[in-house]
Amino acid sequence: MDFNLSEEQLMIQQAARDFAQNELLPGVIERDRDQKFPTEQVKKMGEMGLLGMMVDPKYGGAGMDSVSYVLAMEEIAKIDASAAVVMSVNNSLVCAGLEKFASEEQKVKYLTPLASGQVIGAFALSEPEAGSDATSQKTTAEDKGDYYLLNGIKNWITNGGTASYYIVIAQTDPEKKHKGINAFIVERGWEGFEIGPKEDKLGIRGSDTHSLIFNNVKIPKGNRIGEDGFGFNFAMAVLNGGRIGIASQALGIASGAYELALKYAKTRKAFKTEIINHQAIAFKLADMATQITAARMLCFKAATEKDAGKDISESGAMAKLYASQVAMDTTIEAVQIHGGYGYVKEYHVERLMRDAKITQIYEGTSEIQKIVISRSIAK
Ligand code: CAA
Repeated sequence: MDFNLSEEQLMIQQAARDFAQNELLPGVIERDRDQKFPTEQVKKMGEMGLLGMMVDPKYGGAGMDSVSYVLAMEEIAKIDASAAVVMSVNNSLVCAGLEKFASEEQKVKYLTPLASGQVIGAFALSEPEAGSDATSQKTTAEDKGDYYLLNGIKNWITNGGTASYYIVIAQTDPEKKHKGINAFIVERGWEGFEIGPKEDKLGIRGSDTHSLIFNNVKIPKGNRIGEDGFGFNFAMAVLNGGRIGIASQALGIASGAYELALKYAKTRKAFKTEIINHQAIAFKLADMATQITAARMLCFKAATEKDAGKDISESGAMAKLYASQVAMDTTIEAVQIHGGYGYVKEYHVERLMRDAKITQIYEGTSEIQKIVISRSIAK
């Protein structure tokens, strides 16, 4: 693995950093308070190529590598973890899945507007009774000849209320277990497709999380992704890459909290000196810096392996497992270093602490990552 970033990668990192400072930081506290989706900012992210970063330019993407994606995600998440998850889902779950597995016709129709940021997408796998146990899908898509008839409920869908296109995983033949699952592209506005109320969340409150209700929705045959029965393998393959996105989001949350804590520790005085001169504080910062660097290396490793076409189930899971733990630990300590100030909203660290928790839950809980890693190393 080459640790020297190229000129182009450094430029992308700087562009994302500038964008986050200038466009995401203003209003981030209010968007968190009001659960307000960053509509204008996401539009600009699309114009900058941040919503289809790794997609071939012939399908509207920016044609960049996955390390650039990690760098940009970290910068965006440092300032606004909600905008970062919108970016992660659109890039890694929706665009990457379509680019790799969709038909040419589907790519032209759906991938191009999604990768160029004209619209955003969502990925609907989780259900009220099927989160970690993803093969237990209750949503059904019955083969009716010319079309499939979709019925069921999806839960906790990121971009659920703002997406135009949804990748929906559903059971087509329960007898066949995971080989009887398919993935479909469903358009917002189709008859029988209803979007449930917005979830009132602990963190990433600027992102838009809804349940989706399908009541006899007709899906044209041409909107199935891949061969019949490919849906579960599709979801697993897509989630492997998605975990790099969430690991990078977690990395950004951690490094954002660390930078704020370091700055504070260098200026805040207690017992006649800046608090960084107290070993109790300095050692916390030393641990944070070490863990963040290790998390970044795991993200780079998984991203480099992805671009080399290697199996990233293990490296993606390791990056997500570790970076999300670092996000949680670092943000808790950042609040602690800030003392009473850390507990109020204007210092940002309490928001980052709330935002961190979800990175241990979505796109596979930490426990699921350990299943993936342990099965891989046992092979
Ligand atoms: N990569 C590629 N393929 C995989 C895989 C992986 N990481 N894990 C499993 N598979 C494949 C297996 O090879 C097998 O395929 P074949 O039969 O063709 O060989 C098939 O999937 C079934 O595998 P298992 O028998 O191992 O399946 P299982 O029932 O034991 O479950 C699991 C495996 C890893 C636990 C899986 O269910 C899982 O990953 N669960 C977590 C789901 C998840 O991440 N949900 C998050 C929701 S999406 C979200 O959060 C989005 C958002 O909005 C932010």
